[in-house]
Amino acid sequence: MSDRKPLIDRYHTFDFVNRPVIDGELDLSHGNILYLEDVSVSFDGFKALNNLSLYIEAGELRCLIGPNGAGKTTLMDVITGKTRPDSGSVFFGQTIDLLRMEEPAIAQAGICRKFQKPSVFERLTVFENLELAMKADKGVWNTLLAKINAEQKDRIDQVLETIALTALYDKQAGALSHGQKQWLEIGMLLMQEPKVMLVDEPVAGMTHQEIDRTAELLVSLKGEHSVIVVEHDMEFVRSIANKVTVLHEGSVLTEGNMDEVQNDPRVIQVYLGD
Ligand SMILES: Nc1ncnc2c1ncn2[C@@H]1O[C@H](COP(=O)(O)OP(=O)(O)OP(=O)(O)O)[C@@H](O)[C@H]1O
Ligand SMILES: [Mg+2]
Repeated sequence: MSDRKPLIDRYHTFDFVNRPVIDGELDLSHGNILYLEDVSVSFDGFKALNNLSLYIEAGELRCLIGPNGAGKTTLMDVITGKTRPDSGSVFFGQTIDLLRMEEPAIAQAGICRKFQKPSVFERLTVFENLELAMKADKGVWNTLLAKINAEQKDRIDQVLETIALTALYDKQAGALSHGQKQWLEIGMLLMQEPKVMLVDEPVAGMTHQEIDRTAELLVSLKGEHSVIVVEHDMEFVRSIANKVTVLHEGSVLTEGNMDEVQNDPRVIQVYLGD
């Protein structure tokens, strides 16, 4: 059983709301973990994000769809501090202003991102990759010299199970399939115990079986983590989606469950083009 606490535990919500918030601590008392309001980003006069507002609940798995160029990746760049908006506000919980923080500090605070191309250490084993990810902040020398304790070993075993690579723990990462490398990389992010995970086009290039397994994996993360998934593969989105946000020309076009958005004439229009 997982000993990690869900972000919002139904039975503890009362305490959560009533106890005083410690300065600098993530305040989830209103239920949302990310608040983006009126965010605009322009590149040479072109508005990649245009007065975009978006709220993500603590522990939810949100799918973000929209045609090419809609601003999905730019939105992730804004949340992670890679791109600064021209205007608007971006908060992590009620109180943490992400626009005042640099990229590394945002990552440190628990917002992590999985890029499309897996970047695992090919010559290390699956287990060693996870070990390194856990201790990334300790520097390479300490990582190589220090032995892990029982608790850390348990933590790695737990993540191996989550990413379904337990049987392959001793295999060189370079010998894994494309899908397995993607899962290992998600596992490496999990070692850092992120609160928010941003995942951009996770199933591109995967086999059907790998796509199904990735769906299970991402669904298993919700509750403990808030996950935003950008993906063009609609069958995959349908298989994991609860709430879907459709972006178009840098703004939210609509939000709802998969059936609602797929039957929305405006959504059909932007996907068919003019
Ligand atoms: N660094 C940049 N400089 C100039 N224009 C940019 C830059 N980054 C993004 N854009 C433009 O902003 C718009 C939004 O791009 P973005 O990558 O966010 O779209 P997307 O929704 O992720 O698209 P896709 O589905 O193709 O990945 C596009 O028109 C893109 O060309
Ligand atoms: Mg993109």
